[in-house]
Amino acid sequence: MKNIWLDCDPGHDDATAILLAVSAPNVKLLGVSNVHGNSDSNCTFNNAVRCLYAFGADPEVLVHRGAASPLIKHEKHDPEIHGRDGLGGVEGLPSVTDPALKERLESSLRAPRAVEGIANCIRRLIDDGKSKSDSESEKVTIVSTGPMTNIALFVSVYPDLLQHVEQFVFMGGGVGIGNRSAVAEYNILCDPEAAQIVLNAPVKKTMIPLNVTHTAIVTSEIHARLLSPSGSQSTTPLRHTLSTLISFFADSYKSVFGFEGGPPLHDALTIAYVAAPELFRTRRFRVDIELGGHHTSGETVVDLWDYRKAAEDDWGRDGKNCLVAESVDVSRFFDFFVECIERCDAI
Ligand code: BDR
Ligand code: CA
Repeated sequence: MKNIWLDCDPGHDDATAILLAVSAPNVKLLGVSNVHGNSDSNCTFNNAVRCLYAFGADPEVLVHRGAASPLIKHEKHDPEIHGRDGLGGVEGLPSVTDPALKERLESSLRAPRAVEGIANCIRRLIDDGKSKSDSESEKVTIVSTGPMTNIALFVSVYPDLLQHVEQFVFMGGGVGIGNRSAVAEYNILCDPEAAQIVLNAPVKKTMIPLNVTHTAIVTSEIHARLLSPSGSQSTTPLRHTLSTLISFFADSYKSVFGFEGGPPLHDALTIAYVAAPELFRTRRFRVDIELGGHHTSGETVVDLWDYRKAAEDDWGRDGKNCLVAESVDVSRFFDFFVECIERCDAI
């Protein structure tokens, strides 16, 4: 079983990551934090609570409020892709005024903020493993599907807890491509300084870049498959919600980026990677963020030729600090996705 903490800015594809984190067979979701990004932090907080409820998460899994703005840059949102509240066009989620949501909202509002939430989660794992040796005690994988402000703050405030982090897995960046400039991807561009702090941390990391997420497209065939349980004409409330989510996201990707064949499910791939790493091919490189740059600000600079001769065994500031995903088995990824929907339908 893999312990996961999910830091997210829901967001349509973040919502699918939440769904997988709640239902993947070998994953235990320990906590969630929200961050500014696709919408403002109030909206991403509410959306995370709404999704956890709708996908049947254990009520013990709280949403810990995270950063409302980047470390240095001005806050920016993405209403043209995700709608004003971050989950435009999605039907079937409870609204924040729905009495059914009251308890979950209140307990999450009372919970410690993101950085403390992550630290407490790790302390609990340490306490639970007191009788075990360091190498045997459980660790947590911290997954990021938004700007990395919370993770950078955690790295800076709690360096002593980093040895209990299995790895950081983040959706972000691209190798030579971007989606918010020629070379900058949205999550990194929103808080490039935070991303560099995380990349410098002495912890294993895996980056799931646009080059890979743009291969996991929800075509109309896949959309139809997600909508109907196998062999049946009928759908379920969860599948209806998912279908409206995909339709809105497809329209955004068509109008903004000209994607005709369907939208990519960027963030869902992070959880698939933790649950089933064998679906991915990765290679280890030195990765840094362009923090200046007139044309290239926010680019993930991947040292493909090992120009820097970075140390092989150092995940931190002088080494090959990051595994970069190079491909995913798309058909097996969608099989995994469908399996998770089936499990969620059964909750
Ligand atoms: C990333 O940016 C957001 O729009 C998505 O949620 C995803 O995390 C893709 O660039
Ligand atoms: Ca996201």
